[in-house]
Amino acid sequence: MNRNACIPDSLPEAWRHAFARDLAEPADHADPGPERRAGRMLAAFIATGLVFLALPGTLLGVWNLVNISENHSASAPATAWIQAHGQAQLFGWVGTFILGISLYVLPKFRGRSLRSFGRAWTVWALWTLGVGWHWLGVVYAWHWREALIGSAVIELVAFAVTLRVLFAPGRAGRPGAKSVPEDLGSWLGILGFLGLGVTLVANLVLSLQVAFKGASSAYPLVGDRVFLLLALWAFVAPMAWGYSTRFVTIFLGLEQPVRRAAPWLGVGILAVVVFALARWFLAVDFVALAITACAIWALRVFHPSVRPAKRAGVYGRYTAFVRLSYVWLVVAAILGLASELIPSMTGLGGASRHAMTVGFVALLIFSIGPRLLPSFLNGRELASPRLMATSLWLLTFGCALRVSTESVAYSAVGGLAWKLLPVSAFIELGAVLLFALNLALTLAHPMPAWFVESSVRADLPLYFYITSFPKTRPLLVRAGLKTLAETRRVPHSLTLGEAAESDGVEPEVLLDVLRQFFAGRKPRRLDRPPLEQETVSRSC
Ligand code: HEM
Repeated sequence: MNRNACIPDSLPEAWRHAFARDLAEPADHADPGPERRAGRMLAAFIATGLVFLALPGTLLGVWNLVNISENHSASAPATAWIQAHGQAQLFGWVGTFILGISLYVLPKFRGRSLRSFGRAWTVWALWTLGVGWHWLGVVYAWHWREALIGSAVIELVAFAVTLRVLFAPGRAGRPGAKSVPEDLGSWLGILGFLGLGVTLVANLVLSLQVAFKGASSAYPLVGDRVFLLLALWAFVAPMAWGYSTRFVTIFLGLEQPVRRAAPWLGVGILAVVVFALARWFLAVDFVALAITACAIWALRVFHPSVRPAKRAGVYGRYTAFVRLSYVWLVVAAILGLASELIPSMTGLGGASRHAMTVGFVALLIFSIGPRLLPSFLNGRELASPRLMATSLWLLTFGCALRVSTESVAYSAVGGLAWKLLPVSAFIELGAVLLFALNLALTLAHPMPAWFVESSVRADLPLYFYITSFPKTRPLLVRAGLKTLAETRRVPHSLTLGEAAESDGVEPEVLLDVLRQFFAGRKPRRLDRPPLEQETVSRSC
Protein backbone atom coordinates (compact mmCIF):
# COMPACT_ATOMS: atom_id res chain seq x y z
CA MET A 1 0.00 0.00 0.00
CA ASN A 2 1.31 3.45 -0.82
CA ARG A 3 1.36 5.08 2.61
CA ASN A 4 1.91 8.51 1.03
CA ALA A 5 -1.53 8.14 -0.51
CA CYS A 6 -3.18 9.16 2.75
CA ILE A 7 -1.47 12.57 2.65
CA PRO A 8 -3.97 15.02 1.08
CA ASP A 9 -2.63 16.83 -2.03
CA SER A 10 -4.39 20.02 -0.94
CA LEU A 11 -1.94 20.54 1.92
CA PRO A 12 1.02 22.93 1.49
CA GLU A 13 4.29 21.32 0.51
CA ALA A 14 5.91 21.75 3.93
CA TRP A 15 3.03 19.85 5.53
CA ARG A 16 3.20 17.02 3.00
CA HIS A 17 6.95 16.72 3.49
CA ALA A 18 6.46 16.59 7.24
CA PHE A 19 3.83 13.83 6.93
CA ALA A 20 6.22 11.89 4.71
CA ARG A 21 8.99 12.41 7.31
CA ASP A 22 6.66 11.07 10.02
CA LEU A 23 6.02 7.97 7.93
CA ALA A 24 9.71 7.43 7.23
CA GLU A 25 10.89 7.77 10.83
CA PRO A 26 9.12 8.50 14.12
CA ALA A 27 9.58 12.02 15.49
CA ASP A 28 12.37 12.35 18.05
CA HIS A 29 10.22 14.49 20.38
CA ALA A 30 8.22 12.82 23.15
CA ASP A 31 4.58 12.73 22.09
CA PRO A 32 2.46 14.68 24.63
CA GLY A 33 -0.74 13.18 23.15
CA PRO A 34 -0.96 9.97 25.25
CA GLU A 35 -0.27 11.87 28.47
CA ARG A 36 -3.01 14.41 27.68
CA ARG A 37 -5.48 11.63 26.95
CA ALA A 38 -4.48 9.69 30.05
CA GLY A 39 -4.95 12.83 32.17
CA ARG A 40 -8.41 13.38 30.66
CA MET A 41 -9.37 9.76 31.33
CA LEU A 42 -8.16 9.99 34.93
CA ALA A 43 -10.08 13.25 35.40
CA ALA A 44 -13.30 11.46 34.42
CA PHE A 45 -12.69 8.74 37.05
CA ILE A 46 -11.83 11.30 39.73
CA ALA A 47 -14.84 13.53 38.98
CA THR A 48 -17.16 10.49 39.00
CA GLY A 49 -15.68 9.25 42.28
CA LEU A 50 -16.22 12.68 43.86
CA VAL A 51 -19.88 12.69 42.83
CA PHE A 52 -20.41 9.24 44.40
CA LEU A 53 -18.55 10.33 47.52
CA ALA A 54 -20.57 13.49 48.07
CA LEU A 55 -24.16 12.58 47.18
CA PRO A 56 -25.04 8.86 47.04
CA GLY A 57 -22.33 8.16 49.61
CA THR A 58 -21.95 10.76 52.33
CA LEU A 59 -25.28 12.57 52.06
CA LEU A 60 -27.13 9.28 52.35
CA GLY A 61 -24.83 8.28 55.25
CA VAL A 62 -25.69 11.51 57.08
CA TRP A 63 -29.39 10.97 56.43
CA ASN A 64 -29.15 7.44 57.85
CA LEU A 65 -27.24 8.58 60.93
CA VAL A 66 -29.67 11.42 61.69
CA ASN A 67 -32.49 8.87 61.43
CA ILE A 68 -30.64 6.46 63.75
CA SER A 69 -29.93 9.21 66.29
CA GLU A 70 -33.49 10.56 66.33
CA ASN A 71 -34.92 7.09 66.93
CA HIS A 72 -32.09 5.87 69.20
CA SER A 73 -32.01 2.72 67.09
CA ALA A 74 -29.40 1.42 64.66
CA SER A 75 -32.17 -0.33 62.71
CA ALA A 76 -34.24 2.84 62.15
CA PRO A 77 -33.17 3.44 58.51
CA ALA A 78 -33.97 0.80 55.90
CA THR A 79 -31.15 -1.76 55.78
CA ALA A 80 -31.12 -1.36 52.00
CA TRP A 81 -30.32 2.35 52.41
CA ILE A 82 -27.43 1.65 54.79
CA GLN A 83 -26.05 -0.87 52.31
CA ALA A 84 -26.58 1.51 49.37
CA HIS A 85 -24.50 4.09 51.24
CA GLY A 86 -21.77 1.52 51.86
CA GLN A 87 -21.61 0.41 48.20
CA ALA A 88 -21.60 4.01 46.96
CA GLN A 89 -18.59 4.74 49.17
CA LEU A 90 -16.67 1.51 48.61
CA PHE A 91 -17.30 0.98 44.90
CA GLY A 92 -18.52 4.42 43.79
CA TRP A 93 -15.83 6.48 45.47
CA VAL A 94 -12.89 4.31 46.55
CA GLY A 95 -13.32 1.78 43.72
CA THR A 96 -13.62 4.43 41.02
CA PHE A 97 -10.53 6.25 42.31
CA ILE A 98 -8.54 2.99 42.49
CA LEU A 99 -9.54 1.84 38.98
CA GLY A 100 -8.78 5.27 37.44
CA ILE A 101 -5.44 5.66 39.21
CA SER A 102 -4.45 2.07 38.39
CA LEU A 103 -5.26 2.51 34.69
CA TYR A 104 -3.28 5.74 34.69
CA VAL A 105 -0.25 4.79 36.70
CA LEU A 106 0.31 1.02 36.49
CA PRO A 107 1.38 1.05 32.82
CA LYS A 108 3.90 3.77 33.75
CA PHE A 109 5.26 1.68 36.61
CA ARG A 110 5.92 -0.98 33.97
CA GLY A 111 7.78 1.48 31.74
CA ARG A 112 5.15 2.22 29.08
CA SER A 113 2.15 4.49 28.68
CA LEU A 114 -1.49 3.54 28.45
CA ARG A 115 -2.47 2.82 24.84
CA SER A 116 -5.91 1.21 25.07
CA PHE A 117 -7.84 4.41 25.72
CA GLY A 118 -11.04 2.99 24.22
CA ARG A 119 -10.99 0.13 26.74
CA ALA A 120 -10.12 2.45 29.63
CA TRP A 121 -13.15 4.63 28.78
CA THR A 122 -15.24 1.45 28.53
CA VAL A 123 -14.21 0.59 32.08
CA TRP A 124 -15.26 4.06 33.23
CA ALA A 125 -18.64 3.86 31.48
CA LEU A 126 -19.43 0.32 32.68
CA TRP A 127 -18.27 0.88 36.24
CA THR A 128 -20.22 4.16 36.56
CA LEU A 129 -23.29 2.52 35.06
CA GLY A 130 -23.03 -0.53 37.33
CA VAL A 131 -22.49 1.36 40.58
CA GLY A 132 -25.05 4.04 39.68
CA TRP A 133 -27.70 1.50 38.68
CA HIS A 134 -27.20 -0.47 41.91
CA TRP A 135 -27.65 2.68 44.01
CA LEU A 136 -30.76 3.88 42.15
CA GLY A 137 -32.34 0.42 42.09
CA VAL A 138 -31.80 -0.09 45.82
CA VAL A 139 -32.69 3.42 47.04
CA TYR A 140 -35.80 3.87 44.87
CA ALA A 141 -36.69 0.12 44.88
CA TRP A 142 -37.47 0.47 41.17
CA HIS A 143 -37.05 -2.87 39.35
CA TRP A 144 -34.59 -3.66 42.12
CA ARG A 145 -34.20 -7.34 41.19
CA GLU A 146 -32.98 -6.43 37.68
CA ALA A 147 -30.86 -3.63 39.16
CA LEU A 148 -29.10 -5.93 41.64
CA ILE A 149 -28.22 -8.61 39.09
CA GLY A 150 -27.59 -6.28 36.15
CA SER A 151 -25.34 -3.94 38.10
CA ALA A 152 -23.33 -6.80 39.66
CA VAL A 153 -22.73 -8.33 36.21
CA ILE A 154 -21.75 -4.96 34.70
CA GLU A 155 -19.30 -4.27 37.52
CA LEU A 156 -17.69 -7.68 36.93
CA VAL A 157 -17.38 -6.98 33.21
CA ALA A 158 -15.77 -3.59 33.98
CA PHE A 159 -13.33 -5.41 36.25
CA ALA A 160 -12.52 -7.96 33.53
CA VAL A 161 -11.85 -5.17 31.00
CA THR A 162 -9.56 -3.48 33.54
CA LEU A 163 -7.55 -6.69 33.92
CA ARG A 164 -7.37 -6.95 30.12
CA VAL A 165 -5.99 -3.42 29.81
CA LEU A 166 -3.49 -3.83 32.63
CA PHE A 167 -2.35 -7.44 32.58
CA ALA A 168 -3.16 -9.00 29.19
CA PRO A 169 -0.30 -11.00 27.63
CA GLY A 170 1.72 -8.99 25.18
CA ARG A 171 1.57 -5.84 27.31
CA ALA A 172 5.31 -5.98 27.79
CA GLY A 173 6.96 -3.33 29.88
CA ARG A 174 10.27 -1.62 29.30
CA PRO A 175 13.09 -3.87 28.05
CA GLY A 176 14.63 -5.84 30.89
CA ALA A 177 11.58 -5.47 33.12
CA LYS A 178 11.00 -8.56 35.30
CA SER A 179 7.87 -10.57 34.46
CA VAL A 180 7.52 -11.67 38.11
CA PRO A 181 7.37 -8.56 40.32
CA GLU A 182 9.93 -8.31 43.07
CA ASP A 183 8.64 -5.38 45.07
CA LEU A 184 6.09 -5.37 47.88
CA GLY A 185 3.88 -2.75 46.18
CA SER A 186 3.32 -4.88 43.07
CA TRP A 187 2.41 -7.93 45.15
CA LEU A 188 -0.03 -5.93 47.23
CA GLY A 189 -1.54 -4.50 44.06
CA ILE A 190 -2.01 -7.99 42.62
CA LEU A 191 -3.58 -9.18 45.89
CA GLY A 192 -5.84 -6.11 45.92
CA PHE A 193 -7.07 -6.83 42.38
CA LEU A 194 -7.69 -10.48 43.31
CA GLY A 195 -9.57 -9.23 46.38
CA LEU A 196 -11.70 -6.94 44.22
CA GLY A 197 -12.49 -9.88 41.93
CA VAL A 198 -13.56 -12.06 44.89
CA THR A 199 -15.63 -9.18 46.35
CA LEU A 200 -17.42 -8.63 43.03
CA VAL A 201 -18.18 -12.33 42.67
CA ALA A 202 -19.55 -12.37 46.25
CA ASN A 203 -21.63 -9.32 45.34
CA LEU A 204 -23.08 -11.14 42.32
CA VAL A 205 -23.85 -14.27 44.36
CA LEU A 206 -25.63 -12.18 47.03
CA SER A 207 -27.53 -10.26 44.34
CA LEU A 208 -28.78 -13.49 42.76
CA GLN A 209 -29.76 -14.89 46.13
CA VAL A 210 -31.70 -11.75 47.11
CA ALA A 211 -33.23 -11.22 43.68
CA PHE A 212 -34.64 -14.76 43.53
CA LYS A 213 -35.54 -15.30 47.18
CA GLY A 214 -35.64 -11.92 48.96
CA ALA A 215 -38.59 -9.69 49.77
CA SER A 216 -36.49 -6.51 49.59
CA SER A 217 -33.20 -5.50 48.02
CA ALA A 218 -31.28 -5.71 51.32
CA TYR A 219 -28.58 -8.37 51.53
CA PRO A 220 -28.99 -10.81 54.46
CA LEU A 221 -27.00 -9.55 57.46
CA VAL A 222 -24.45 -12.38 57.55
CA GLY A 223 -23.94 -12.29 53.78
CA ASP A 224 -23.48 -8.51 53.93
CA ARG A 225 -20.92 -8.94 56.69
CA VAL A 226 -18.94 -11.40 54.57
CA PHE A 227 -19.14 -9.00 51.63
CA LEU A 228 -17.88 -6.09 53.75
CA LEU A 229 -14.99 -8.09 55.22
CA LEU A 230 -13.90 -9.09 51.72
CA ALA A 231 -14.28 -5.55 50.38
CA LEU A 232 -12.40 -3.93 53.26
CA TRP A 233 -9.66 -6.43 54.08
CA ALA A 234 -9.08 -8.21 50.76
CA PHE A 235 -9.56 -5.28 48.37
CA VAL A 236 -9.36 -1.80 49.95
CA ALA A 237 -6.65 -2.46 52.56
CA PRO A 238 -4.16 -4.26 50.22
CA MET A 239 -4.68 -1.57 47.57
CA ALA A 240 -4.13 1.20 50.13
CA TRP A 241 -0.97 -0.53 51.40
CA GLY A 242 0.24 -1.20 47.85
CA TYR A 243 -0.09 2.41 46.80
CA SER A 244 1.39 3.49 50.15
CA THR A 245 4.61 1.62 49.24
CA ARG A 246 4.92 4.04 46.32
CA PHE A 247 3.43 7.33 47.35
CA VAL A 248 3.55 7.42 51.15
CA THR A 249 7.15 6.21 51.04
CA ILE A 250 8.15 8.94 48.58
CA PHE A 251 6.07 11.82 49.96
CA LEU A 252 7.04 11.21 53.58
CA GLY A 253 10.66 10.48 52.67
CA LEU A 254 10.58 7.04 54.31
CA GLU A 255 13.00 4.16 53.92
CA GLN A 256 12.06 1.59 51.29
CA PRO A 257 9.35 -0.86 52.47
CA VAL A 258 10.37 -4.30 53.72
CA ARG A 259 10.03 -6.65 50.76
CA ARG A 260 10.08 -9.87 52.71
CA ALA A 261 6.69 -8.97 54.22
CA ALA A 262 5.02 -9.85 50.88
CA PRO A 263 4.48 -13.61 51.54
CA TRP A 264 3.22 -12.95 55.09
CA LEU A 265 0.74 -10.37 53.91
CA GLY A 266 -0.27 -12.62 51.01
CA VAL A 267 -1.00 -15.54 53.35
CA GLY A 268 -2.85 -13.21 55.75
CA ILE A 269 -5.07 -11.74 53.04
CA LEU A 270 -5.80 -15.21 51.68
CA ALA A 271 -6.72 -16.32 55.22
CA VAL A 272 -9.11 -13.37 55.54
CA VAL A 273 -10.86 -14.47 52.34
CA VAL A 274 -11.11 -18.11 53.41
CA PHE A 275 -12.24 -17.34 56.98
CA ALA A 276 -14.75 -14.72 55.82
CA LEU A 277 -16.29 -17.14 53.30
CA ALA A 278 -16.38 -19.81 56.03
CA ARG A 279 -18.00 -17.23 58.35
CA TRP A 280 -15.33 -17.62 61.03
CA PHE A 281 -15.56 -13.98 61.99
CA LEU A 282 -13.40 -14.15 65.11
CA ALA A 283 -10.59 -15.68 63.04
CA VAL A 284 -10.99 -12.88 60.45
CA ASP A 285 -10.66 -10.26 63.19
CA PHE A 286 -7.50 -11.88 64.58
CA VAL A 287 -5.90 -12.11 61.15
CA ALA A 288 -6.95 -8.52 60.30
CA LEU A 289 -5.12 -7.29 63.39
CA ALA A 290 -2.06 -9.38 62.52
CA ILE A 291 -1.82 -8.17 58.90
CA THR A 292 -2.38 -4.57 60.04
CA ALA A 293 0.66 -4.89 62.33
CA CYS A 294 2.65 -6.56 59.55
CA ALA A 295 1.73 -3.89 56.96
CA ILE A 296 2.67 -1.06 59.32
CA TRP A 297 6.01 -2.72 60.06
CA ALA A 298 6.65 -3.31 56.34
CA LEU A 299 5.72 0.22 55.30
CA ARG A 300 7.81 1.83 58.09
CA VAL A 301 5.08 4.44 58.44
CA PHE A 302 6.07 5.32 61.99
CA HIS A 303 9.81 5.39 61.33
CA PRO A 304 11.45 8.81 61.09
CA SER A 305 11.82 10.18 57.55
CA VAL A 306 15.23 9.69 55.97
CA ARG A 307 14.66 12.39 53.35
CA PRO A 308 12.72 15.67 53.56
CA ALA A 309 9.00 15.12 53.06
CA LYS A 310 7.42 16.61 49.93
CA ARG A 311 5.24 19.47 51.05
CA ALA A 312 5.34 21.89 48.11
CA GLY A 313 1.96 23.24 47.10
CA VAL A 314 -0.08 21.45 49.77
CA TYR A 315 -0.90 21.72 53.48
CA GLY A 316 2.52 21.08 55.02
CA ARG A 317 1.34 19.00 57.97
CA TYR A 318 -0.44 16.44 55.83
CA THR A 319 2.31 13.94 56.64
CA ALA A 320 1.06 13.73 60.25
CA PHE A 321 -2.43 12.88 58.94
CA VAL A 322 -1.00 10.07 56.81
CA ARG A 323 0.52 8.57 59.96
CA LEU A 324 -2.71 9.22 61.86
CA SER A 325 -4.66 7.27 59.24
CA TYR A 326 -2.53 4.23 60.10
CA VAL A 327 -3.29 4.78 63.79
CA TRP A 328 -6.98 4.63 62.84
CA LEU A 329 -6.33 1.36 61.04
CA VAL A 330 -4.99 -0.13 64.27
CA VAL A 331 -8.02 1.24 66.15
CA ALA A 332 -10.32 -0.33 63.54
CA ALA A 333 -8.65 -3.74 63.85
CA ILE A 334 -8.75 -3.67 67.67
CA LEU A 335 -12.39 -2.54 67.78
CA GLY A 336 -13.30 -5.25 65.25
CA LEU A 337 -11.81 -7.90 67.51
CA ALA A 338 -13.44 -6.34 70.58
CA SER A 339 -16.86 -6.36 68.89
CA GLU A 340 -16.52 -10.11 68.43
CA LEU A 341 -15.27 -10.73 71.97
CA ILE A 342 -17.84 -8.44 73.70
CA PRO A 343 -21.05 -8.96 71.68
CA SER A 344 -23.10 -7.01 74.26
CA MET A 345 -21.38 -3.79 73.09
CA THR A 346 -23.34 -3.64 69.85
CA GLY A 347 -21.83 -0.33 68.75
CA LEU A 348 -18.29 -1.66 68.48
CA GLY A 349 -18.79 -3.28 65.04
CA GLY A 350 -20.04 -0.04 63.44
CA ALA A 351 -17.36 1.97 65.25
CA SER A 352 -14.68 -0.39 63.92
CA ARG A 353 -16.02 -0.07 60.37
CA HIS A 354 -16.12 3.71 60.60
CA ALA A 355 -12.57 3.82 61.99
CA MET A 356 -11.53 1.75 58.97
CA THR A 357 -13.53 3.52 56.26
CA VAL A 358 -13.31 7.13 57.41
CA GLY A 359 -10.36 7.07 59.82
CA PHE A 360 -8.06 5.01 57.61
CA VAL A 361 -9.31 5.03 54.01
CA ALA A 362 -10.82 8.50 53.76
CA LEU A 363 -8.10 10.19 55.84
CA LEU A 364 -5.36 8.53 53.76
CA ILE A 365 -7.01 9.63 50.51
CA PHE A 366 -7.68 13.15 51.85
CA SER A 367 -3.97 13.42 52.80
CA ILE A 368 -2.30 11.87 49.76
CA GLY A 369 -4.88 12.67 47.05
CA PRO A 370 -4.37 16.45 47.02
CA ARG A 371 -0.58 15.91 46.84
CA LEU A 372 -0.77 13.32 44.08
CA LEU A 373 -3.80 13.83 41.88
CA PRO A 374 -3.32 17.41 40.64
CA SER A 375 0.05 16.52 39.14
CA PHE A 376 -1.35 13.38 37.53
CA LEU A 377 -4.10 15.52 36.00
CA ASN A 378 -1.82 17.05 33.37
CA GLY A 379 0.51 18.79 35.81
CA ARG A 380 -2.12 20.83 37.64
CA GLU A 381 -1.69 22.49 41.04
CA LEU A 382 -3.93 21.99 44.05
CA ALA A 383 -6.49 24.81 44.15
CA SER A 384 -6.22 25.47 47.89
CA PRO A 385 -3.87 24.06 50.56
CA ARG A 386 -6.10 25.83 53.11
CA LEU A 387 -9.19 23.86 52.05
CA MET A 388 -7.05 20.72 52.27
CA ALA A 389 -6.03 21.57 55.85
CA THR A 390 -9.61 22.31 56.90
CA SER A 391 -10.93 19.08 55.41
CA LEU A 392 -8.21 17.03 57.16
CA TRP A 393 -8.87 18.58 60.58
CA LEU A 394 -12.66 18.32 60.22
CA LEU A 395 -12.48 14.69 59.09
CA THR A 396 -10.22 13.78 62.00
CA PHE A 397 -12.40 15.55 64.55
CA GLY A 398 -15.65 14.18 63.08
CA CYS A 399 -14.31 10.64 62.93
CA ALA A 400 -13.05 10.74 66.54
CA LEU A 401 -16.46 12.00 67.68
CA ARG A 402 -18.31 9.36 65.66
CA VAL A 403 -16.19 6.37 66.67
CA SER A 404 -16.28 7.27 70.38
CA THR A 405 -19.99 8.09 70.51
CA GLU A 406 -21.13 5.20 68.30
CA SER A 407 -19.44 2.64 70.56
CA VAL A 408 -21.36 4.07 73.52
CA ALA A 409 -24.71 5.08 71.99
CA TYR A 410 -25.49 1.90 70.06
CA SER A 411 -24.58 -0.19 73.09
CA ALA A 412 -27.61 1.32 74.86
CA VAL A 413 -25.61 3.23 77.44
CA GLY A 414 -25.42 6.56 75.65
CA GLY A 415 -27.50 9.64 76.51
CA LEU A 416 -25.30 12.50 75.39
CA ALA A 417 -23.71 10.14 72.86
CA TRP A 418 -26.97 10.01 70.86
CA LYS A 419 -26.95 13.84 70.66
CA LEU A 420 -23.33 14.01 69.51
CA LEU A 421 -23.67 11.38 66.76
CA PRO A 422 -25.45 13.62 64.22
CA VAL A 423 -22.98 16.42 65.00
CA SER A 424 -20.18 14.09 63.96
CA ALA A 425 -22.05 13.35 60.72
CA PHE A 426 -22.31 17.03 59.77
CA ILE A 427 -18.66 17.68 60.63
CA GLU A 428 -17.63 14.78 58.36
CA LEU A 429 -20.00 15.96 55.66
CA GLY A 430 -18.27 19.37 55.81
CA ALA A 431 -14.89 17.66 55.43
CA VAL A 432 -16.07 15.61 52.46
CA LEU A 433 -17.59 18.61 50.68
CA LEU A 434 -14.43 20.69 51.14
CA PHE A 435 -12.25 17.85 49.82
CA ALA A 436 -14.52 17.40 46.79
CA LEU A 437 -14.69 21.17 46.20
CA ASN A 438 -10.91 21.48 46.35
CA LEU A 439 -10.37 18.75 43.76
CA ALA A 440 -13.21 20.05 41.59
CA LEU A 441 -11.66 23.55 41.61
CA THR A 442 -8.29 22.00 40.81
CA LEU A 443 -9.81 20.21 37.82
CA ALA A 444 -11.68 23.32 36.66
CA HIS A 445 -8.51 25.41 36.78
CA PRO A 446 -6.74 25.70 33.39
CA MET A 447 -3.68 23.47 33.01
CA PRO A 448 -0.52 25.40 33.95
CA ALA A 449 2.46 25.54 31.58
CA TRP A 450 5.58 24.22 33.28
CA PHE A 451 8.10 25.96 31.06
CA VAL A 452 9.76 29.35 30.89
CA GLU A 453 9.18 31.94 28.14
CA SER A 454 12.46 31.15 26.37
CA SER A 455 11.26 27.58 25.80
CA VAL A 456 8.56 28.85 23.43
CA ARG A 457 10.47 28.50 20.16
CA ALA A 458 9.79 28.26 16.43
CA ASP A 459 11.83 25.07 16.04
CA LEU A 460 9.49 23.08 18.31
CA PRO A 461 6.79 21.02 16.58
CA LEU A 462 3.42 22.68 16.04
CA TYR A 463 1.94 19.32 17.12
CA PHE A 464 3.56 19.71 20.56
CA TYR A 465 1.86 23.08 21.21
CA ILE A 466 -1.61 22.16 20.07
CA THR A 467 -1.59 18.71 21.68
CA SER A 468 -0.22 19.82 25.02
CA PHE A 469 -2.50 22.87 25.10
CA PRO A 470 -5.43 22.40 22.69
CA LYS A 471 -6.57 25.98 23.38
CA THR A 472 -3.57 27.22 21.39
CA ARG A 473 -5.06 25.78 18.16
CA PRO A 474 -7.77 28.46 17.65
CA LEU A 475 -5.30 31.17 18.71
CA LEU A 476 -2.79 30.06 16.07
CA VAL A 477 -5.53 29.82 13.44
CA ARG A 478 -6.62 33.37 14.24
CA ALA A 479 -2.99 34.52 14.06
CA GLY A 480 -2.81 33.26 10.46
CA LEU A 481 -2.14 29.49 10.38
CA LYS A 482 -4.99 28.89 7.95
CA THR A 483 -3.93 25.32 7.08
CA LEU A 484 -4.47 24.40 10.72
CA ALA A 485 -8.12 25.41 10.35
CA GLU A 486 -8.57 23.01 7.43
CA THR A 487 -7.11 19.82 8.86
CA ARG A 488 -7.44 17.98 12.16
CA ARG A 489 -4.31 15.86 11.73
CA VAL A 490 -1.03 17.64 12.19
CA PRO A 491 2.32 16.03 11.32
CA HIS A 492 4.43 15.39 14.41
CA SER A 493 7.62 16.70 12.82
CA LEU A 494 6.31 19.98 11.34
CA THR A 495 7.90 22.82 13.27
CA LEU A 496 6.02 25.98 14.16
CA GLY A 497 8.48 27.90 11.93
CA GLU A 498 7.76 25.65 8.90
CA ALA A 499 4.00 25.94 9.45
CA ALA A 500 4.31 29.74 9.69
CA GLU A 501 6.37 29.97 6.51
CA SER A 502 4.03 27.76 4.50
CA ASP A 503 1.06 29.97 5.45
CA GLY A 504 3.03 33.19 4.91
CA VAL A 505 2.95 34.27 8.57
CA GLU A 506 5.87 35.80 10.49
CA PRO A 507 6.99 33.20 13.10
CA GLU A 508 7.43 36.02 15.63
CA VAL A 509 3.71 36.80 15.38
CA LEU A 510 2.87 33.23 16.36
CA LEU A 511 5.51 33.16 19.09
CA ASP A 512 4.05 36.37 20.58
CA VAL A 513 0.59 34.82 20.62
CA LEU A 514 1.93 31.69 22.31
CA ARG A 515 4.02 33.62 24.83
CA GLN A 516 1.00 35.69 25.82
CA PHE A 517 -1.03 32.50 26.21
CA PHE A 518 1.61 30.79 28.34
CA ALA A 519 2.16 33.94 30.43
CA GLY A 520 -1.45 33.51 31.58
CA ARG A 521 -0.77 29.85 32.45
CA LYS A 522 2.19 30.37 34.77
CA PRO A 523 2.09 27.91 37.69
CA ARG A 524 2.08 29.38 41.20
CA ARG A 525 5.40 27.61 41.82
CA LEU A 526 8.17 27.34 39.27
CA ASP A 527 10.45 25.47 41.64
CA ARG A 528 9.66 21.93 40.67
CA PRO A 529 8.96 19.72 37.68
CA PRO A 530 5.45 18.33 37.29
CA LEU A 531 5.18 15.76 40.04
CA GLU A 532 3.82 13.07 37.73
CA GLN A 533 7.21 12.62 36.05
CA GLU A 534 9.10 12.91 39.31
CA THR A 535 6.96 10.44 41.22
CA VAL A 536 6.52 7.89 38.51
CA SER A 537 10.17 7.82 37.55
CA ARG A 538 11.25 7.46 41.21
CA SER A 539 8.85 4.65 41.87
CA CYS A 540 9.61 2.66 38.74
C1 HEM B 1 -20.14 11.67 56.73
C2 HEM B 1 -19.60 10.50 56.60
C3 HEM B 1 -20.32 9.20 56.88
C4 HEM B 1 -21.46 8.95 57.60
C5 HEM B 1 -22.31 9.95 58.33
C6 HEM B 1 -21.70 7.54 57.53
C7 HEM B 1 -22.76 6.91 58.13
C8 HEM B 1 -22.97 5.56 58.13
C9 HEM B 1 -24.02 4.88 58.87
C10 HEM B 1 -25.05 5.55 59.72
C11 HEM B 1 -23.88 3.56 58.64
C12 HEM B 1 -24.79 2.47 59.19
C13 HEM B 1 -24.06 1.55 60.12
C14 HEM B 1 -23.59 2.23 61.37
O1 HEM B 1 -24.42 2.78 62.05
O2 HEM B 1 -22.37 2.27 61.57
C15 HEM B 1 -22.77 3.39 57.75
C16 HEM B 1 -22.34 2.20 57.26
C17 HEM B 1 -21.33 2.08 56.36
N1 HEM B 1 -20.50 3.07 55.90
FE1 HEM B 1 -20.62 5.00 56.34
N2 HEM B 1 -20.72 6.97 56.79
C18 HEM B 1 -19.85 7.95 56.37
C19 HEM B 1 -18.74 7.79 55.60
C20 HEM B 1 -18.35 6.61 55.03
C21 HEM B 1 -17.21 6.44 54.17
C22 HEM B 1 -16.24 7.54 53.76
C23 HEM B 1 -17.18 5.14 53.81
C24 HEM B 1 -16.22 4.40 52.92
C25 HEM B 1 -15.12 4.87 52.44
C26 HEM B 1 -18.30 4.48 54.46
C27 HEM B 1 -18.62 3.15 54.33
C28 HEM B 1 -19.62 2.51 55.02
C29 HEM B 1 -19.90 1.10 54.92
C30 HEM B 1 -19.15 0.10 54.06
C31 HEM B 1 -20.97 0.83 55.75
C32 HEM B 1 -21.64 -0.53 55.96
C33 HEM B 1 -22.78 -0.70 55.00
C34 HEM B 1 -23.44 -2.04 55.18
O3 HEM B 1 -23.84 -2.36 56.31
O4 HEM B 1 -23.54 -2.75 54.18
N3 HEM B 1 -18.98 5.42 55.17
N4 HEM B 1 -22.22 4.62 57.46
